[in-house]
Amino acid sequence: MNAPGYSDVLIGLQYGDEGKAKIIDRIAGEYNVIARFNGGANAGHTVKTDASTVALKQVPSGIFNENVDLYIGSGCAVNAEKLVTELEQIDDLGVSVRDRLRISDQATLIQPHHILLDSLAGGSVGTTYNGIGPAYADRCMRMFGERMLHVRLGDVLDDCDGALRAIAENLQQTCNLYGIDGKDMDEKMQNLRMALDAITPLIERDTLYLQNRVRNGCTVLFEGAQSFMLDVGRGTAPYVTSSHTGAGSPYVGGDISPEYHRMTIGVAKALMSRVGNGPFASEFGGKKSEEYCMEEGGTKNTRSVEESLDTATLLRSEDPFEMGIALRKLSNEYGTGTGRPRRIGMLDLVQLSYAIRLNGVTNLYINKCDLLREFSDTNHGTIPVVTSYNQNSVPIDYVPGTTGSHRSVECYVEQRPGFSEDVRTVRSRADMPTELVTLLEEIEHRVGCSITGIGVGPDRKDHVVW
Ligand code: IMP
Repeated sequence: MNAPGYSDVLIGLQYGDEGKAKIIDRIAGEYNVIARFNGGANAGHTVKTDASTVALKQVPSGIFNENVDLYIGSGCAVNAEKLVTELEQIDDLGVSVRDRLRISDQATLIQPHHILLDSLAGGSVGTTYNGIGPAYADRCMRMFGERMLHVRLGDVLDDCDGALRAIAENLQQTCNLYGIDGKDMDEKMQNLRMALDAITPLIERDTLYLQNRVRNGCTVLFEGAQSFMLDVGRGTAPYVTSSHTGAGSPYVGGDISPEYHRMTIGVAKALMSRVGNGPFASEFGGKKSEEYCMEEGGTKNTRSVEESLDTATLLRSEDPFEMGIALRKLSNEYGTGTGRPRRIGMLDLVQLSYAIRLNGVTNLYINKCDLLREFSDTNHGTIPVVTSYNQNSVPIDYVPGTTGSHRSVECYVEQRPGFSEDVRTVRSRADMPTELVTLLEEIEHRVGCSITGIGVGPDRKDHVVW
């Protein structure tokens, strides 16, 4: 028998969109399996190669590495129709994943009424409208009387007609409750049935599938979705996703036991962003930016409106809100799945240190370091960094647990020397501007974790081993 393998966990440390997929794409070849353990089509994991760009939603990010198998764990919420579309897009790239993707039969199935409920109720949180919250709510609720609220992929294999009857009943009841005309119900059910037929061969019946593979020597990289600050329990509730996103979560939704855990990899970015509502202490333009992004996000016109604005003028503005718009444009921070403008904030080392401590991160990647050069074109020419928090004039070293308390945090901002070099083509630490090296050393010191690599651009090759 082989020596047992191990599992590493990679999570986002901020509010999502830190470039997790790019790091996974880089290191995927070191593992036998890349596995998802939470979330579903709400994720947008972009992988950019010389030949193509693909925004993965449900399929794990190791697709370009042909020797790597892919797994979607029981903690995930699967949208069958979107999965079929995603698999077709991957086929079009000439990449084959169908023979290396397995999906737990215990994974939650997203039902049409979940999407409907999210469209009715998700606006105040600013969800991605993928039905994620309602699906996980049904998982916890389990049944309503005799009616099966929660349907898993395996239930469809057990009794497809019975599962579809339950799903149709859930949709009908939801329509009745909210006075919605269910005229397109038959079409929705028909589409779902076809999608379920298409993914049936991928559903894994062996509930020990991943556990046994690791026991027999395989190595697994767990790919976190949505990031730590959006954790349903530890994040900025209620402005969070509905799954657990921290480093312990793969040992609940990833279908192997914690005995195999080896290390935790954290991904952050040098210029922070957040989509949707909720506290974001270091946001450029604070409340004004939050309201603007939410309002404009609703119309999805922001990008074209912002394209017509003069970036250089905005960047030199003394109004942080305007600076935030310029930085959003320069860093192309518009949602992968939704096109929504992302709210932009300065690097917050209190928040980063908090996330690193709570998740036991040992390997830190910092993406988007190239963007720090943009600060050299601001009026002050320096890089702002949040180094401490005060609450009611008392210093605190943690992120407050409630929205009200979080919103009352006062950030202490320090300025660090800027640099004007374009570092996108630099490939070694020795060739980096001293200002950037010094800043990264300070980050390591303040957050108590060494940096493994930094991102200096969107492409796969835009990376420097640190
Ligand atoms: P949901 O996960 O669609 O229910 O959305 C809940 C919150 O999480 C909203 O603020 C979303 O914008 C945010 N969210 C969900 N998925 C992602 C992601 O992949 N990146 C960043 N934010 C996300």
